[in-house]
Amino acid sequence: MQIIVASHSGFCFGVKRAINIAEKILKESRNTNNIYSLGPIIHNPQVVEGLSKRGLKVIKDITNIKKGAVIISSHGAPIEVMGDIKKKRLGLIDATCPFVKNTHNIGERLKASGYKIVIIGDKKHPEVKALLSLTGKGTKTKKVAVISQTTQSSDNYLKGVAELLKKDFSELRIFNTICNDTAERQASAKKFLKKCDVMVVVGGKNSANTRRLWQICKESGVSSYHIESASELKRQCFLGKSHAGVVSGASTPDSMVKKVVKRIKSLTS
Ligand code: F3S
Repeated sequence: MQIIVASHSGFCFGVKRAINIAEKILKESRNTNNIYSLGPIIHNPQVVEGLSKRGLKVIKDITNIKKGAVIISSHGAPIEVMGDIKKKRLGLIDATCPFVKNTHNIGERLKASGYKIVIIGDKKHPEVKALLSLTGKGTKTKKVAVISQTTQSSDNYLKGVAELLKKDFSELRIFNTICNDTAERQASAKKFLKKCDVMVVVGGKNSANTRRLWQICKESGVSSYHIESASELKRQCFLGKSHAGVVSGASTPDSMVKKVVKRIKSLTS
């Protein structure tokens, strides 16, 4: 079995930064009982579990939190939630990825300039929820601006823009807010799909960017597996196959990718 691994793997910049922020706080705090993360700090269950063993508590909301500090995940949080954290006089540690912040800033600026903002992304994802809190409900205007979730696939984005072009507007501004890391991982997957007869996508099942990689692979028709850990791979996955491609999401550690490669080797030798 020939195995090729995307050169762009391991944690992305924003994920590394968020983990470093959390680790630093846990190391420096005298009392780790009061350190919370609003939602998982990154979308990788194994990494989140590792941090929780060191004291980081994942919470859904701040209702029952009376003291301590709250870390905002790499995806950001709605402006109202940030306000509530401050009102309750809790510590606010913002680990939002700067590329996500950049999208938020673009959205806010466009809203202030009178545009109706269309976001192409997953409504339920924290990044989009945060963005919606800043760009608000649609205003009645024919000036439209479109931005995407940073981890959107370029194909989905283009499809969304093509739909918008059919609508009634006086002005349409299009911003490419897909982050470079996401774009490069998707490009690797597409390149591998031309050479491989089986693809392995490694990353959290709750990770938006990993799911997009999985979607790209699945839609190509090449046998593809989305796994969180190496043990999910079975010998049958590789029967009759000769070239395996391994791509990973932005919140997947390098060590996990190495374990997956080792597992493929052991199953196919
Ligand atoms: Fe940031 Fe892109 Fe990673 S938006 S969190 S660098 S996938």
